Amino acid sequence: MNILVVNGPNLNLLGIREPNIYGVDTLSDIENWINNELKVRNITLQWYQSNHEGKIVDRLHRAMHDKNDGIIINPGAYTHYSYAIRDAIAAISIPTIEVHLSDIKSRENFRQLSVIQDVCLEQISGLGKNGYLEAINVLEKYFNK
Ligand code: DQA
Repeated sequence: MNILVVNGPNLNLLGIREPNIYGVDTLSDIENWINNELKVRNITLQWYQSNHEGKIVDRLHRAMHDKNDGIIINPGAYTHYSYAIRDAIAAISIPTIEVHLSDIKSRENFRQLSVIQDVCLEQISGLGKNGYLEAINVLEKYFNK
């Protein structure tokens, strides 16, 4: 299984950014931890982070040409208003899981809505870095169905 993991704006600042909400691990700490967890599993991950909406759209399109089996995406604040990212996920028809480190449902009103939720298989929110691992498990179950 070859999975693309996309992280959106400000997630490059993990570790520094509001650690009380997002935790103390940097994005590369999370990548290393998950890559290590997957050592004995036949799963490869490609990690991508961008602060730019169009670049995220382009990267999602590339996943279609690269024939990624699945996608895990934490679009950051784009979750709440990017119809372009939503449409890109719908266009490429690759099973996609939405992940958030924090529990978006228990935060500000503007975070309650995810415009990508209905084009994703599942939304995982509030599990911190474990959410990424949980998303891999969901994709694995989906493919072994
Ligand atoms: C986030 C939640 C979003 O509301 C926020 O804008 C982020 C991170 C999360 O992982 O909890 O940047 O997606």
